[in-house]
Amino acid sequence: MFARWSVRAGLACSLAGYPLALQGQDQSLQQRIADDFIALAGGVHPGYRIAHAKGIIVTGTFAPSRGATSLSRAPHLVAASTPVIARYSNGSGVPDVADNSPDAVPHGLALRFQLPNGAYTDIVANSHNGFVVGTGEDFAAFLDAVLATKPDSKHPSPIEAFLGTHPAAKRFVTEPARVPASFATEVFYGNDAFTFVNAQNVKQPGRYRLVPVGGTKYLDSAAATNVSANYLFDELTRRLRKEPVKVRVLVQIPNPGDPTSDASAVWPDDRNLVELGVVTLTTVAPDNAELSRKLQFNPVFLSDGIQLSDDPLPPLRSAVYALSVANRRSPSPAVPATAQQRNVDPTWLGFDTAAKTVRFQLIAGLTGLNGALNFNGFRDGQLTLVVPVGWQTEIDFRNHDAVLPHSAEVIPPQTPPPALPGDPAIPRAFTLKLAQGLPSEATDDMRFAAQPAGEYLIACGVPGHGAAGMWIRLRVSATATAPELLPTPAPGSR
Ligand code: HEM
Repeated sequence: MFARWSVRAGLACSLAGYPLALQGQDQSLQQRIADDFIALAGGVHPGYRIAHAKGIIVTGTFAPSRGATSLSRAPHLVAASTPVIARYSNGSGVPDVADNSPDAVPHGLALRFQLPNGAYTDIVANSHNGFVVGTGEDFAAFLDAVLATKPDSKHPSPIEAFLGTHPAAKRFVTEPARVPASFATEVFYGNDAFTFVNAQNVKQPGRYRLVPVGGTKYLDSAAATNVSANYLFDELTRRLRKEPVKVRVLVQIPNPGDPTSDASAVWPDDRNLVELGVVTLTTVAPDNAELSRKLQFNPVFLSDGIQLSDDPLPPLRSAVYALSVANRRSPSPAVPATAQQRNVDPTWLGFDTAAKTVRFQLIAGLTGLNGALNFNGFRDGQLTLVVPVGWQTEIDFRNHDAVLPHSAEVIPPQTPPPALPGDPAIPRAFTLKLAQGLPSEATDDMRFAAQPAGEYLIACGVPGHGAAGMWIRLRVSATATAPELLPTPAPGSR
C-alpha cells in the first residue's frame, strides 16, 4: 500500500475531505497513523481493516522441524502438531482493490498458532523485505508527507523531501513490485525482530521469513496486466481444493552488528536461516467474512520462548491495529467518541467500612468508546477509583471486548502509560497473562493491600493498549474514609 503507486495516489489525496481527520489537534502517534491510513484508503470502509482490508482466512496445521527447539522453547515448536489459522491479504485499506494493482502490495500473510488452553501466538508478515522506516515517528512523518503532497506541490514536495532524507523509504517505494502468480508462490517477511529463548534460556534475536515449500513464482509484466481483479483469491481457493499450500517458517539470524531495532535495515541474504517448521494450509474457512472481522492478528501476541526485542515498531503496531479494530466494529465513525455513554454504575463498587475491604468491578471494553480500548466506558484516566490507604482491595477484572484480549495492572502514574507492561507498582496488583491479555469474557481478580498512599494508573498490559488510552486512575488516599468512584474528565480531553 506504500508502493510507488501509493505515493502517486497520495499526491491526489489531501486531508481536506477526510472524515475523521483531527486536523490541528494534538493526536497520539498511533491515532495520527490510523487517521492517515484511513485517508490513504479514501475514507472509512466500515467493517474492514484500515490496512490489509481484502483478505482470505484459511486453516491448517504446523509441524515443527527437529532443530526448532535449539532456538525457542515455544509450545508449538515442542508439540508434534499445532492448529493454524492464517490470513492472506492485499496491503491496501481499500476492500475491493484489484489484486494486480500496485496498491495491493505489500501482500500480507498472518499466521496464528493455536496453543493449548486457548493461548495463541501470531506471525504477521508482509511481502516486502525491509519495512519502509524504522520508527513510528518516521512512519507517521512518511504518511503525513504522502498525504500533504499535491499534484501542484512545489519541488521538493513533502514526499520528495522525506524520501530525500530516508534512503530505505525511497528504496521501498521505488522498487518495482513483483506480482506473484499466487499467494502460495510468494515469500513473506516479518521485518520486525523478536527474541527467541530456548529451554536453556539462551536468547537469540531473529526475523521471521515465510517461504513457499513449492518455490516462488512471479508474473512478468504482460501476464500481470492480464489477470483478473480477484485472481489471487480465486486461485488460492481453487488450489486448496486440489492440494495443500505448504509454507516453511524460517528465522533469519543476524550477524553481530546487524541492527535489531530498525525494521527498515535489511539484513544481508547470506545470514543463517533456521527452519522452525512447516505450515500446511488445507481449507478456506467457511465463515470467511465474519471470521476476518472478528480475528485480530497482532505481532505482539507472543508466547513463552518468543519475546519482543528492542525493535520499537511492534508495540506501536499493536496500538494502531487496536484502533483499526474500532473501525471494523463501528459502523458510524461519524459518532464522536465523546458522545458515548460515560456513567458510573454504583454496582461496580462495594465495600465494608468496618472490615476495611473494597471490591471493584473492572470491565475491559465495556462500551465502544475508543474502539473498546476503555475500562468501564472510560479512557485516558477519566475515571478515578479512590481507596483509603491500607484497605484490602479486590479488583474483579472481566474482558467484555468481543475481539481483543485485555489485561490490567496497577502502575506508577505516567502519561501515556508505557508501551510495554513492567512490574506492578503495588505487589500482586496485576491480572494473569498481562502482555498476551485474557480472551473475551475471561475473568481474573487482583487482590492487594492498597499502600503506600499515592496516585497510580490501572492500565491494560497488552502492548500498545495503555498507550492508546486504555487506562483509568487509582488514588490510594491517606485522607479518604471510604472508597469512591469519580469521573475525572481531563481538560480538553478527547
Ligand atoms: C508502524 C508500522 C505499522 C503499522 C502502523 C501497521 C498498521 C496496520 C494496521 C492498522 C493493520 C490492520 C489491523 C487490523 O485491523 O487487524 C495492519 C495489518 C497488517 N499489517 Fe501492518 N502495520 C505496520 C507494520 C507492518 C509490518 C512491519 C508488517 C509486516 C512485515 C505488517 C503486516 C501487516 C499484515 C500482514 C496485516 C494484516 C493482518 C491481518 O490479516 O489481520 N505491518 N497493519
